[in-house]
Amino acid sequence: MTETATFKTGSLDKSFPTLSGTVGPEVVDIRKFYAETNMFTYDPGYTSTASCQSAITYIDGDQGILLHRGYPIDQLAEQSSFMEVSYLLLHGELPSAEQLKEFSWTISRHTMVHEQLSTFYRAFRRDAHPMAIMCGVVGALSAFYHDSTDITDPIQRLIASHRLIAKMPTLAAMAFKYSIGQPFLYPQNELSYTGNFLRMTFGVPAEPYEVNPIIEQAMDKIFILHADHEQNASTSTVRLAGSSGANPFACMAAGIACLWGPAHGGANEAALNMLREIGDVKRIPEYIARAKDKNDPFRLMGFGHRVYKNFDPRAKVMKATADKVLKELGKSDPVLDVAKELEHIALNDPYFIDKKLYPNVDFYSGVILNAIGFPTEMFTVLFALARTVGWVAQWNEMISDPEQKIGRPRQLYVGETQRDYVPVDRR
Ligand code: CMC
Repeated sequence: MTETATFKTGSLDKSFPTLSGTVGPEVVDIRKFYAETNMFTYDPGYTSTASCQSAITYIDGDQGILLHRGYPIDQLAEQSSFMEVSYLLLHGELPSAEQLKEFSWTISRHTMVHEQLSTFYRAFRRDAHPMAIMCGVVGALSAFYHDSTDITDPIQRLIASHRLIAKMPTLAAMAFKYSIGQPFLYPQNELSYTGNFLRMTFGVPAEPYEVNPIIEQAMDKIFILHADHEQNASTSTVRLAGSSGANPFACMAAGIACLWGPAHGGANEAALNMLREIGDVKRIPEYIARAKDKNDPFRLMGFGHRVYKNFDPRAKVMKATADKVLKELGKSDPVLDVAKELEHIALNDPYFIDKKLYPNVDFYSGVILNAIGFPTEMFTVLFALARTVGWVAQWNEMISDPEQKIGRPRQLYVGETQRDYVPVDRR
């Protein structure tokens, strides 16, 4: 028997069906709510709204659980590779050895970008933020790959998905090289996805580049940890842009724009800047006091999450990876000491305990990326690179969903009611 949720106000008494997923809260199906009640629901930030049905990623924020296609993130980060996770997100199942080989090969065949795209880079100022460049060049891909923009054709959608996953490392590395005035490096397809990216970023044409396997593994883990995260702001942006039928490259550019913000993907850059500003464990109490002060807009960056009201499961893996990378590089980073002490103090402070504010994925990722040699402006670019697979998987799922409609939220209008125009000389 279908459960219903009843809505009563004044003389109105309407029931709406509830829907059950495989796990997680029930949802009330309010698709006919406006038609039957002449009312809208009000939910700024969509904190109580399921905008779609999805079989890709599941999060239980209270328990600190993150599953991709049912597999826990820590198992994937420890045991699989970014290519394997990409296949899983796109196709729903872990690949066999043969499928993984073929998928990795296919991705490697799409790593080059149209040569003309490199001239596009040269139009940017050298000090342009690489996310500004990424918004432009990823959107521009739609001008280069006309043969994969018909979204009604599943084959074209798959080719566009492969192209996006494959070209993001090349485009990201080019954004970095442009900012430091070094020549772009072409991909080398005998390297792994992540090794190739490291070489295009840190190698130079004048010398051979040897990929450090520990750094390669750490970077691959960082990519896995950022690969998808349910209906977050940038993924919802990609879905909303795609719901109008826009081509996949344009949709990804929209996702990149959304990810750029400091409350979303920009948080790892902000977290590292904050840790550097604190500089010394002695200054932590001052910053904790500021974070708690209602009159101070300062927030502890890398703390808190819209969904996780427990430890972000990705943060645990990230912390262990930070230790490993610093050990490999023989670096002792005072910023890591500040991070660990800040975490310790915050986790024992009633303000953070009561509000369930725990470190999120961005708290430690900046420390690792900094140690590997990335400037802070590149952090969000790396997030975008990894999240591209999540975006394309969610975009494909949306396009194939028969219940998909153009996204069109409504509003609670609080402006002027109708009034007559007054000519300018009488105002
Ligand atoms: N430092 C201090 N206080 C905080 C923090 C923080 N980082 N985050 C939330 N609070 C307080 C906030 O002031 C509010 O207090 P009160 O109830 O007294 O007004 C309460 O906690 C709830 O905050 P909220 O803003 O309503 O929570 P939210 O779920 O809307 O915001 C968030 C989530 C991530 C935007 C927020 O925690 C934040 O700004 N964190 C810092 C930025 C950050 O690290 N973002 C990365 C998110 S993870 C990466 C990703 O998935 O993109």
